[in-house]
Amino acid sequence: MIDLHGYTALVTGASRGIGRACAIRLAEAGADVVVNYVSSRSNAEETAEQIQALGRKALVVKADVSEEDDVRSLMEIIEEELGSLDVVVSNAATGGFKQLLEASPKAFDNAMRINVRSLLHLVQAGMHLLERPGGKGIAPRSKVIALSSAGSKFALPKYGLIGSSKAALESLVRHLTLELGPRGVNLNVVLSGLVDTDSARLLPNAERLLEGRRARSLTGEKLLAPSDVADTVMFLASARSDQIQGATLTVDGGSSIRV
Ligand SMILES: NC(=O)c1ccc[n+]([C@@H]2O[C@H](COP(=O)([O-])OP(=O)(O)OC[C@H]3O[C@@H](n4cnc5c(N)ncnc54)[C@H](OP(=O)(O)O)[C@@H]3O)[C@@H](O)[C@H]2O)c1
Repeated sequence: MIDLHGYTALVTGASRGIGRACAIRLAEAGADVVVNYVSSRSNAEETAEQIQALGRKALVVKADVSEEDDVRSLMEIIEEELGSLDVVVSNAATGGFKQLLEASPKAFDNAMRINVRSLLHLVQAGMHLLERPGGKGIAPRSKVIALSSAGSKFALPKYGLIGSSKAALESLVRHLTLELGPRGVNLNVVLSGLVDTDSARLLPNAERLLEGRRARSLTGEKLLAPSDVADTVMFLASARSDQIQGATLTVDGGSSIRV
């Protein structure tokens, strides 16, 4: 059984979609959760209410994860209010669906700032809480989990900004393990297949892509749900995964291995 009682977890972008599902799953396993958001306070508060209904603490904190100062303040608030940090789920992302030939330098930089550099800000600002020994958390090893997508390896129309940022994110995770692994931190990636969320609905031909995913599934016709991704995040957050380091776990019902 996965038991996260006594753990403190931060989930970035926990106001909706996969981030919200992760926050709730971690709370169901016993963790207190920091619910980060950037624009939708009321949605973030809804996530927090669901966590509190499970008997866990929830702290709602607004922070733009692409801004170093915001992330530093976020970590200060966590230290002051909760005193420790055992798990970081770096989930918040954006990017816009554009042809690369039409992408402005600003659009490219935004995708890299929000989807990649945010992880660096989180580990730099949170290292004093995450490292073991020396950090204040309960877990023998702390866990950082980043969310990626099939676009890191495959080419999808109008997905070049996000896809290339996810490839960079996966490499960043592997390189961070060299520095953070010996200091008691595990970093891994959960690569999710297509999940029906607000951002997925903005994909060109979203309906057709979701149906295509259903048709290629090797686990039956059920579409992938945010909670399916959250289950793997919960496992990687726990001590049950202490020997998994620098890995990318794919959660897509096998659809990406099917030719
Ligand atoms: N949906 C999919 O099919 C799919 C597939 C593979 C991987 N993923 C990955 O899974 C993660 C979540 O995807 P999703 O579909 O659940 O996304 P979503 O529904 O669009 O939600 C995005 C979340 O990120 C937050 N956010 C955006 N920019 C932020 C910033 N600068 N600082 C802090 N928070 C920020 C949003 O907060 P506000 O609500 O406050 O704006 C929101 O909570 C992403 O990393 C995505 O790339 C998704």
